[in-house]
Amino acid sequence: MKRRDFLFGSLASVFYIACGSSSSPATTAVDDDAGTSGPDGPDGGRPEASAALTPTSSPEDSDRVFPQGLASGDPRPDRVLLWSRVDPKGAGKAESDSFDLGFVVATDEALTNVVARGTVPATADSDHTVRVVPTGLEPGRFYYYRFEALGTTTRVARTKTAPAADADVPVKFAMCACQDYIGRYYHSWQALLDEKADLDFVLYLGDFIYESVNDPRFQSSGDDRTITLPDGMDTSAAQDGSRIAAKTLADYRAVYKAYRADPTLREVCRLYPFILTWDDHEFADDCWQDHSTSFNELDPVTKGFTDEKNTPRRMAANRAFSEFQVVDVTYDSKATFPNDITIYRSIRYGKHVDLFMTDQRSYRADHLIPEGPTDLLVGKVTKNTSVGSRYFVRKSEFDKRETKAKPSLLGASQKAWLIDAVTKSTATWKVWGNEVQMYQMALELGTLPNVPAFFTYTAYVNCDQWDGYRSERAEILSAFTKANVENLLVCTGDIHAFFASELHVDFDAPGPKPVGVEYVTAGISSASLQALVNNLTGGGSLQFIADSFLNGADAALKESNPHMRYSDSNAYGFALMEIQKDKVEATFVQLGDPREPTSTIVDRVKLTTLAGTNTIQLV
Ligand SMILES: [Fe+2]
Repeated sequence: MKRRDFLFGSLASVFYIACGSSSSPATTAVDDDAGTSGPDGPDGGRPEASAALTPTSSPEDSDRVFPQGLASGDPRPDRVLLWSRVDPKGAGKAESDSFDLGFVVATDEALTNVVARGTVPATADSDHTVRVVPTGLEPGRFYYYRFEALGTTTRVARTKTAPAADADVPVKFAMCACQDYIGRYYHSWQALLDEKADLDFVLYLGDFIYESVNDPRFQSSGDDRTITLPDGMDTSAAQDGSRIAAKTLADYRAVYKAYRADPTLREVCRLYPFILTWDDHEFADDCWQDHSTSFNELDPVTKGFTDEKNTPRRMAANRAFSEFQVVDVTYDSKATFPNDITIYRSIRYGKHVDLFMTDQRSYRADHLIPEGPTDLLVGKVTKNTSVGSRYFVRKSEFDKRETKAKPSLLGASQKAWLIDAVTKSTATWKVWGNEVQMYQMALELGTLPNVPAFFTYTAYVNCDQWDGYRSERAEILSAFTKANVENLLVCTGDIHAFFASELHVDFDAPGPKPVGVEYVTAGISSASLQALVNNLTGGGSLQFIADSFLNGADAALKESNPHMRYSDSNAYGFALMEIQKDKVEATFVQLGDPREPTSTIVDRVKLTTLAGTNTIQLV
């Protein structure tokens, strides 16, 4: 068959990707010459361009055959990645069967003005996930698409390409992160749907999944929001099954399948393209490279301290990510971590926005303070715990050691890429999709009620974020300043709180003008920072911190950090962001407790940054 039978409409050309099965390059071009090697239609030939479309199936039939629905991501002015997964059993096939999925892309919801149409193979090798990248599309416009398996179709979905690089248009997106599923409901996603917002995309900043299914430190168990792992690993120190996490490819796939089958999330994915990065929980809590921190370096068998390096586990997580996520990058199943996948990238959105998505887990150095032994100089009073190592670390001693060690969070290559890309960007706003909080968040423990004499020092709340890598933070922000980078907007997830802060190269000796601003979104559903701190510090010598957070730590946080402009550490929800030439507007949409079966919006907080100021005002 000829190319025109596969692709038609003067604008469209198509790539297809067989997820997880191919060595580099994972993307196969389908063009004139490759016509005979591309995927064939269900009848052994290419579907005719003019052939009538199958009527769209009922929602029940769609959900049975496509339980994870469909999604799109990484829009560019001329292309966007389209994703779906077919359930072989739902389609009346065996798990091991391979078969073709049809796809169609059109400019209208009725799919009459078709610009791309073809088939892609769904195989067991990729858990029957498929990815299609139609190219040659027009910038800044809606497209509609659908997949079909053996006569059953998905619903019709909508996506939108990025505007042309010179388009003088505002950019609107929802900023989201952290959607723990276990015992928690997606009221935040429902609230976003209810907004009927005219969004260009959803910016998702990590923790799309949680690898753990019953972690009592932050997960709630419920009858209808649970996940059963096919294999699983016991990450409890006592090895009593009280903490189970994903370990194998089958485990990570099971987690993605459960999350993506949530009907509310599925509907958000049907209506908006995503631009996303991962954070720790796409692999393991507070991970670095291919190391997890589940045991805090305690070997539960020998009771000695061990390294938790597990490269096969990390590679399983990466492979599942490549299969189930709408990130338009190459995955190489034959390469070893970290060369199997590279997800840092930039995406231009018109004249005013350049978006830089970073990976803050694959290349970072270990946390500086070991979790095993006590270390009173940094406030680590208990063995085998993250408290005093990653959380509530004494600032004065940590700073001395960090200045000597200079651990990297981005790794040398990514850091060089980021500095080069941001300093050369011609967009009005440089938007950094940043996983972990950048601004300094210290807490003067001495100001808290009932503090024991030993603890009257200043502590970093969280050294898993940029405070633990403060030399590199200063190096990057300093490079931006020297290159006169204007209008740096850092967008962050991870910490499960709404925060807003101005940024400085040295937060202890701020210059006359901030070097940028940071907006931090709360989790869609994950336990709030207040709840996490209570779990971490309650019941021991740091009980005074737990008590203080319960009574509202936001005033103390703002007092200890004069660069902070907004703080709500007990929050859930998302942020609506609108970027115009002369300003950024952020609306923190705050939801009630996600453990309740119903919940509504409890507050909206609006903040703004005017171009050229690097400051934040409450509107
Ligand atoms: Fe999270």
